[in-house]
Amino acid sequence: MKKFTILTLFPDVFENFKKFSIIKRAIANKKIKLNIIDFRQFSKNKHKKVDDYQFGGGAGMIIALPSIVAAIKKYKTKNSLVLLTSPQGKPFNQAKASTLAKTKKDFIIVCGHYEGFDARILNYVDEVISMGDFVLTGGEIPAMAITEAVARLIKGVITDSSLDFESFNNKLLDYDAYTRPVEFEGHKVPAVLLSGNHKKIAEFRKANQLAKTKKYRPDLLKSK
Ligand SMILES: C[S@@+](CC[C@H](N)C(=O)[O-])C[C@H]1O[C@@H](n2cnc3c(N)ncnc32)[C@H](O)[C@@H]1O
Repeated sequence: MKKFTILTLFPDVFENFKKFSIIKRAIANKKIKLNIIDFRQFSKNKHKKVDDYQFGGGAGMIIALPSIVAAIKKYKTKNSLVLLTSPQGKPFNQAKASTLAKTKKDFIIVCGHYEGFDARILNYVDEVISMGDFVLTGGEIPAMAITEAVARLIKGVITDSSLDFESFNNKLLDYDAYTRPVEFEGHKVPAVLLSGNHKKIAEFRKANQLAKTKKYRPDLLKSK
């Protein structure tokens, strides 16, 4: 069972995350364990304050080291990989999710807030992961995204065949999928998909994957 320990100032944000769909089933089937920790409880400040002004001046508050480092030290084991969420990190992608799913490691995911952490936090984490070139208010959504992307790749969490054609496998986007009705407001399902000819269907889907990837994500094809 893979353990995800999430260090956050907003543990309630994860309540629904645990209760639905694949994450709920993965927890029930003991494929993953989610441990949501409010690191404010590690603050020694009498008002449980965790943030402070930054040296040198500048807008916004910074999360100081003592409480977050105490939390990391409390939950870190020899088997932990400590992941810091930050827009300044390496962009997360499916290949990274797959690597993380295959490691024997458990994860500690650190969620920032305000203007982020005192920069010396880098001495206490193994990797810095970004969701992309945009800035969110906190690390909770990134932590959920990392947890979910990794969890669904852990063996037995979802049917293996559902993953075969998923976007980014073989550096291609998934093919277009259709269901009933065969015609909706004049929009028809491509006839080949109704033909029963499996070879033709496979060729159609492959061509569709290539055309879509070329149109929306030519960068994927270049890195092939
Ligand atoms: C408002 S952001 C801090 C942004 C920081 N001052 C900067 O400009 O790089 C607060 C927290 O949200 C999280 N966060 C925001 N955007 C993110 C992204 N693109 N990827 C991962 N985490 C992000 C991080 O945990 C970060 O510490």
